[in-house]
Amino acid sequence: MAEPDSHRPRAFVIGHPIGHSRSPLIHGYWLRQAGIEGSYEAIDVAPDDLPAFISALRDGSSGFCGGNVTIPHKEAVLDLVDDVDETARRIGAANTLWCEDGRVKAGNTDSYGFTANLDVQAPGWDRGKSAVILGAGGASRAVIHALLARGLETIQVVNRTEARARILAEVFGPRVTAHRSEQLSNCIQGADLFVNTTSLGMGGSEIPDIDFTVMADNALVTDIVYIPLETPMLALARQHGLRTVDGLGMLLHQAVPGFARWFGLTPEVSPELRQMIVADMES
Ligand code: ATR
Repeated sequence: MAEPDSHRPRAFVIGHPIGHSRSPLIHGYWLRQAGIEGSYEAIDVAPDDLPAFISALRDGSSGFCGGNVTIPHKEAVLDLVDDVDETARRIGAANTLWCEDGRVKAGNTDSYGFTANLDVQAPGWDRGKSAVILGAGGASRAVIHALLARGLETIQVVNRTEARARILAEVFGPRVTAHRSEQLSNCIQGADLFVNTTSLGMGGSEIPDIDFTVMADNALVTDIVYIPLETPMLALARQHGLRTVDGLGMLLHQAVPGFARWFGLTPEVSPELRQMIVADMES
């Protein structure tokens, strides 16, 4: 059994396809900054090959100490690893794996990334009591988990398919309520925070005609999507005079806990790192 080389730690991001992932850029930047002789590698793993990949991670033969998991494996890995932490269990998906005592462990750092980004870009954001989340997919689950952990009192999930929002309300409990898209205007009345977790507005698609001015004074609007940085939803909110936070910071911050686990050092989300990713998006 080959043990991972602790002097030259190797981490991965697995997905299918994997070419779009910006994680190698982020972790590569931090490895260079810290002068760590490790690596972070993008690996295309087809769904049929996922069980063998996890087995090789467990027995050390892959040579990796852990890594990230992206689409389409974020849910499937839960059934293959030995331990799933409380956050990943609640969200129903994992994005980070690591090895401990011969066991493969899975966690989810998306909620952390969401919260850390707002903490930096809009300190005090969590003094608000009520939030509206547009969308009821995987990203929405991570945001709900983050908002509940920060003590928001009411979280209204608005979704095209109301049944999916209702499932989230059942899973996450009484502070979370489900609504259909037509109710969006009512839901945002007086709300402190609006989070878009859908792809609405991407690729030139239409966005709903939302009147953000009915939200609470000093309300905040943020988007999980970060391409482009100012999404049509954020542009509209800004036109209506609201504070906005883009989603790129969430991508950067969600990478921090994984790097710390695999490489033993907590990296910084610096303006230079952000600039490097923006430049890559524009190239
Ligand atoms: P993710 O993991 O990124 O959240 P997902 O699980 O596929 O992705 O969820 C996508 C979300 O965006 C869903 O809430 C979806 O609405 P439905 O549940 O009704 O499918 C929402 N969404 C995607 N395209 C949309 C569109 N054109 N109009 C409205 N909602 C849309």
